[in-house]
Amino acid sequence: MTTFVDVRKPLRKVNNKDVTIHTIRKYIVGVEEEIPLLDGKRRPYINLDNAASTPTISLITEKVNEFLKWYSNVHRGTGFKSKLSSRVFEEARDTIAQFVHADLSDSVVLFCKNTTEAINKLANRFSFQLGDVVLTSVMEHHSNELPWRKVAHVVHIDVTPDGRIDENDFREKISRFGSKIKLIAVSGASNVTGFINPVHTYARWAHAIGAQIMVDAAQLVPHRPIDMKMKGDPEHLDYIAFSAHKMYAPFGVGVLVGCRKTFEEGDPEYVGGGTVDIVNLENAYWADLPDKEEAGTPDIVGAVALAQAIRVIEQIGWDDIIDHESSLTHYALERLKKIPGVTLYGDKELATVADRLGVITFNIKDLNHALVASILSYEWGIGTRNGCFCAHPYVKCLLEVSETEAKDMETRILARDRSTLPGFVRASFGIYNTKEEVDALCEALSAIAQGKYRDGYLLNKERGEFYRTDVADEFEKYFSL
Ligand SMILES: Cc1ncc(COP(=O)(O)O)c(C=O)c1O
Repeated sequence: MTTFVDVRKPLRKVNNKDVTIHTIRKYIVGVEEEIPLLDGKRRPYINLDNAASTPTISLITEKVNEFLKWYSNVHRGTGFKSKLSSRVFEEARDTIAQFVHADLSDSVVLFCKNTTEAINKLANRFSFQLGDVVLTSVMEHHSNELPWRKVAHVVHIDVTPDGRIDENDFREKISRFGSKIKLIAVSGASNVTGFINPVHTYARWAHAIGAQIMVDAAQLVPHRPIDMKMKGDPEHLDYIAFSAHKMYAPFGVGVLVGCRKTFEEGDPEYVGGGTVDIVNLENAYWADLPDKEEAGTPDIVGAVALAQAIRVIEQIGWDDIIDHESSLTHYALERLKKIPGVTLYGDKELATVADRLGVITFNIKDLNHALVASILSYEWGIGTRNGCFCAHPYVKCLLEVSETEAKDMETRILARDRSTLPGFVRASFGIYNTKEEVDALCEALSAIAQGKYRDGYLLNKERGEFYRTDVADEFEKYFSL
């Protein structure tokens, strides 16, 4: 059976509310929550760290709460609530399949913990022979790099000086390694520069040499529609992996969607309850998919939350999401470029802003990225992220760190000194961020670049973080268990 979502079909209202790109902010949980600043004032937290995790949406938490009355373990129960929960769990699976246009006659949707677990699962279940190559890129998050090293010979496609995948090198590696390449594993979009990769073109290249393609869609999925396309189409994506916590549903679920055959063959990676049809003291006979690959009790609530997040995204509509995030990115780049002392990395072009995500990395003059992120937090109430973003090789390329510098850095880090770790500050946008928030970031960065920030930041060398001794965070005033 093949199922496609018809995105043109008018969707149901979510929880009977008309959700649009203009109204979504009021549904973002905690968006107006005030936090303390160094000067003793308070202001609503500005969250520009959406590439790490997004906040949730009240329409999702309401749905989760509504479900909790009916919550029970799935599959193995005969009680009403268990049967209801099983139905809802499978409905969530179908919602995901439709969302990414997976052809269910060929593909299976597997629930995991997150993208990292999903990619590890594929690495463990893909049938590699000695000498087989996984072709990946220098751009990748460690989660789409380290799992492959354990199971295959990993070959890296270079990146260009501005950080794009170098397609000449890509083609060269394809012709050099040819049929030894069994899998091409690339990100849909970069968590460092926001570059969006033409994964369907890469799918053509993979299939032309008899390989498959796996797309790490962790960053792409909240910002662009994904169409896995039918098997047999040269642009078909064989596998994708993503996490719900990056798409407004931080309830602990991730997804691997991909080729059934890979999981039908061989033993599951985790075994135990739920994975078998029958067991005797010598043998276990595996259940059909997806049960075979989902050992133990799954994250049923997480699946419900993800399905509802998909509903919210579809209700808002991709055109409006892309328009909003692109115009925010355009505005931010335009303003950031004019701040003396700010260096931007990756794509700085305004004309092509719709071809990238709202993930912007920068540095200020000679200031340590960790110091800048700390000042933004303590003095401006702005949440960003700094460092290498779990993409060390990529960040080293973008910063043109030499081999000798890289070796020195490794030595220092292994000696527990992260004070000179290279990196950037990253601001990343979601559907609910505003131009006023971009203005606040730019005002803060202008001030910092002019040296207008408080004295007294201390460096914790081991962690590579800046902190202060004149304020206590007092988190328990805000929340404690
Ligand atoms: C591109 C990319 N891949 C993989 C991951 C890992 O995601 P998770 O931590 O949800 O496993 C991330 C997380 O930031 C990411 O940005």
